[in-house]
Amino acid sequence: LKSKVIDKIDNADSINILEDIRVKILGKKGELTLILREMGKLSKEERPVIGKLSNEVRESIEKKLEEKFNHLKDLAIEQKIEKERLDVTANKIILSKGAYNPINKTIDELEDLFRTMGYTVVDGPEIEEFDNNFTYLNFPMDHPSISKSDTFFLDDKHLLRTHTSPVQIRYMKSHKPSIRMVSAGRTFRFDDVDDTHSPMFHQIEGLVVDKGVSLANLLETMNTFVKYLLGENFETRFRPHHFPFTEPSAEVDVTCFNCLGKGCEKCNYTGWSMELLGCGMVHPNVLKNCGIDPEVYTGFAFGMGIDRITMVKYGIDNIRLLYENDKRFLEQF
Ligand code: PHE
Repeated sequence: LKSKVIDKIDNADSINILEDIRVKILGKKGELTLILREMGKLSKEERPVIGKLSNEVRESIEKKLEEKFNHLKDLAIEQKIEKERLDVTANKIILSKGAYNPINKTIDELEDLFRTMGYTVVDGPEIEEFDNNFTYLNFPMDHPSISKSDTFFLDDKHLLRTHTSPVQIRYMKSHKPSIRMVSAGRTFRFDDVDDTHSPMFHQIEGLVVDKGVSLANLLETMNTFVKYLLGENFETRFRPHHFPFTEPSAEVDVTCFNCLGKGCEKCNYTGWSMELLGCGMVHPNVLKNCGIDPEVYTGFAFGMGIDRITMVKYGIDNIRLLYENDKRFLEQF
């Protein structure tokens, strides 16, 4: 029996076959088990001799089974490794490079420019307190932007910021003049999507507060950055406007990117791209709200739609393209 079983074990080539053998020999109704059970029928003299022999046979079969089992297991692992092996030298492009979104490119360029002009680049939260977004910025409580149809409210006190101007408030409350800061990021308004509107868009905000800051400083700063961003031949045009947090306020147009000022369909033959940014001298109430004395300090602020300026700069006529992250589009920049 022993040599017959050992032979079978040697020839077994799978763990399943091995298990079959084990059951047939050592299982409840296995050959060896039955022999051991019959022991009672043997004579007193035979019993110890046969008993000892049977136990030896069982032990050696068990040992053999275990050895073979381990061997088959190792073999299976080796086969698996071999089968799943990757040829890392294979000349195949598995990874492809991503591409930078042009919005981030514009943000980087603007932050770099303002850094060289001595501004600090700061960050602000997209979920903002109502008061930072409106109250401290001198919004009258009946201002149309405060309505639920224009602003994403989270609760009475929190909203998705509708502009980057609340970062001004945060910064003035935590820093004493002189202040020069810019902050770029996402902003949200309840707008339907069309070619030029998206409920999520991007702004960059700038703020300068110091003794003797004047309107001339503001105009010069706006001219400098428009020329830096778009090119030397781009001019600015300031139109009087109203913002609750600046006085006086202006909207700034720049030379039409399409016709470079000659006049074309895109600019309604005016030669200007409209409303690229808003700016003005910081309203005394805003300074006061942040604990800065408007008798001592003055400041200017500006805010600009990054999506708009990116579209003008690269001649993109549909804002959706900026958010689809289609690589074929992104790779062009
Ligand atoms: N926050 C204004 C807007 O979103 C832009 C702005 C910023 C205007 C700073 C003046 C000064 O339209």
